[in-house]
Amino acid sequence: MVKISVTDLSGATKEIEAESGLSLMENLRNNDFDDLAAVCGGCCSCCTCHVYVDEAKFAALPEITEDEQYLLEDSETFKEGTSRLSCQVEVDDSMGGLKVTIAPEG
Ligand code: FES
Repeated sequence: MVKISVTDLSGATKEIEAESGLSLMENLRNNDFDDLAAVCGGCCSCCTCHVYVDEAKFAALPEITEDEQYLLEDSETFKEGTSRLSCQVEVDDSMGGLKVTIAPEG
Protein backbone atom coordinates (compact mmCIF):
# COMPACT_ATOMS: atom_id res chain seq x y z
CA MET A 1 0.00 0.00 0.00
CA VAL A 2 1.23 3.49 -0.83
CA LYS A 3 -0.26 6.88 -0.03
CA ILE A 4 -1.43 8.83 -3.06
CA SER A 5 -3.06 12.24 -2.99
CA VAL A 6 -6.03 12.62 -5.34
CA THR A 7 -7.85 15.79 -6.38
CA ASP A 8 -11.27 15.35 -7.96
CA LEU A 9 -13.09 17.57 -10.45
CA SER A 10 -14.58 19.70 -7.67
CA GLY A 11 -11.05 20.52 -6.44
CA ALA A 12 -11.37 18.42 -3.29
CA THR A 13 -8.23 16.51 -2.33
CA LYS A 14 -8.14 13.23 -0.46
CA GLU A 15 -5.28 10.91 0.43
CA ILE A 16 -5.84 7.26 -0.41
CA GLU A 17 -4.01 4.05 0.42
CA ALA A 18 -3.36 2.65 -3.03
CA GLU A 19 -2.81 -1.05 -3.57
CA SER A 20 0.36 -2.01 -5.42
CA GLY A 21 -0.19 -4.27 -8.40
CA LEU A 22 -3.47 -2.63 -9.33
CA SER A 23 -3.71 0.17 -11.84
CA LEU A 24 -4.11 3.73 -10.70
CA MET A 25 -7.58 3.67 -12.32
CA GLU A 26 -8.61 0.61 -10.30
CA ASN A 27 -7.38 2.27 -7.13
CA LEU A 28 -9.34 5.45 -7.89
CA ARG A 29 -12.48 3.45 -8.61
CA ASN A 30 -12.00 1.39 -5.43
CA ASN A 31 -11.85 4.66 -3.49
CA ASP A 32 -15.12 5.95 -4.94
CA PHE A 33 -13.80 8.60 -7.30
CA ASP A 34 -16.87 8.55 -9.52
CA ASP A 35 -15.55 11.47 -11.61
CA LEU A 36 -13.42 8.88 -13.34
CA ALA A 37 -15.70 7.17 -15.88
CA ALA A 38 -13.11 4.65 -17.13
CA VAL A 39 -15.63 3.54 -19.74
CA CYS A 40 -13.51 0.90 -21.48
CA GLY A 41 -12.54 -0.76 -18.20
CA GLY A 42 -8.81 -0.38 -18.73
CA CYS A 43 -8.45 -1.48 -22.37
CA CYS A 44 -6.68 1.74 -23.38
CA SER A 45 -9.39 2.75 -25.83
CA CYS A 46 -11.49 5.52 -24.26
CA CYS A 47 -9.40 8.22 -22.52
CA THR A 48 -12.04 8.64 -19.78
CA CYS A 49 -9.52 7.70 -17.11
CA HIS A 50 -7.29 10.69 -17.91
CA VAL A 51 -5.41 12.16 -14.96
CA TYR A 52 -2.65 14.68 -14.38
CA VAL A 53 0.22 13.47 -12.24
CA ASP A 54 2.68 15.78 -10.52
CA GLU A 55 5.38 16.68 -12.98
CA ALA A 56 8.22 15.92 -10.55
CA LYS A 57 7.27 12.24 -10.57
CA PHE A 58 6.11 11.95 -14.17
CA ALA A 59 9.41 10.63 -15.53
CA ALA A 60 9.59 7.93 -12.85
CA LEU A 61 6.25 6.38 -13.87
CA PRO A 62 6.03 3.42 -16.25
CA GLU A 63 6.62 4.48 -19.83
CA ILE A 64 3.75 5.64 -22.03
CA THR A 65 2.90 3.25 -24.86
CA GLU A 66 2.15 4.45 -28.39
CA ASP A 67 -1.56 3.66 -27.94
CA GLU A 68 -1.76 5.66 -24.72
CA GLN A 69 0.09 8.62 -26.23
CA TYR A 70 -2.22 8.60 -29.26
CA LEU A 71 -5.35 8.69 -27.09
CA LEU A 72 -3.96 11.38 -24.82
CA GLU A 73 -2.92 13.65 -27.66
CA ASP A 74 -6.41 13.34 -29.10
CA SER A 75 -7.88 14.82 -25.91
CA GLU A 76 -8.53 18.57 -25.70
CA THR A 77 -7.37 18.50 -22.08
CA PHE A 78 -4.03 16.80 -22.81
CA LYS A 79 -1.00 18.41 -21.15
CA GLU A 80 2.49 17.28 -22.13
CA GLY A 81 4.60 16.04 -19.25
CA THR A 82 1.73 15.43 -16.83
CA SER A 83 -1.13 13.63 -18.61
CA ARG A 84 -1.54 9.88 -18.15
CA LEU A 85 -4.28 7.33 -18.63
CA SER A 86 -4.68 6.02 -15.11
CA CYS A 87 -5.55 2.52 -16.35
CA GLN A 88 -2.09 2.26 -17.89
CA VAL A 89 -0.18 3.09 -14.71
CA GLU A 90 0.34 0.14 -12.41
CA VAL A 91 0.85 1.27 -8.85
CA ASP A 92 4.02 0.10 -7.16
CA ASP A 93 5.72 0.80 -3.87
CA SER A 94 7.92 3.53 -5.37
CA MET A 95 4.92 5.78 -5.93
CA GLY A 96 4.36 6.94 -2.37
CA GLY A 97 3.46 10.63 -2.21
CA LEU A 98 2.31 10.80 -5.82
CA LYS A 99 -0.19 13.59 -6.48
CA VAL A 100 -2.92 12.89 -9.02
CA THR A 101 -5.61 15.20 -10.35
CA ILE A 102 -8.56 13.85 -12.31
CA ALA A 103 -8.61 15.61 -15.69
CA PRO A 104 -11.79 17.09 -17.12
CA GLU A 105 -13.17 15.23 -20.13
CA GLY A 106 -11.91 16.61 -23.39
S1 FES B 1 -10.25 3.15 -18.84
FE1 FES B 1 -10.41 3.50 -20.98
S2 FES B 1 -8.43 4.19 -21.52
FE2 FES B 1 -8.30 3.90 -19.39
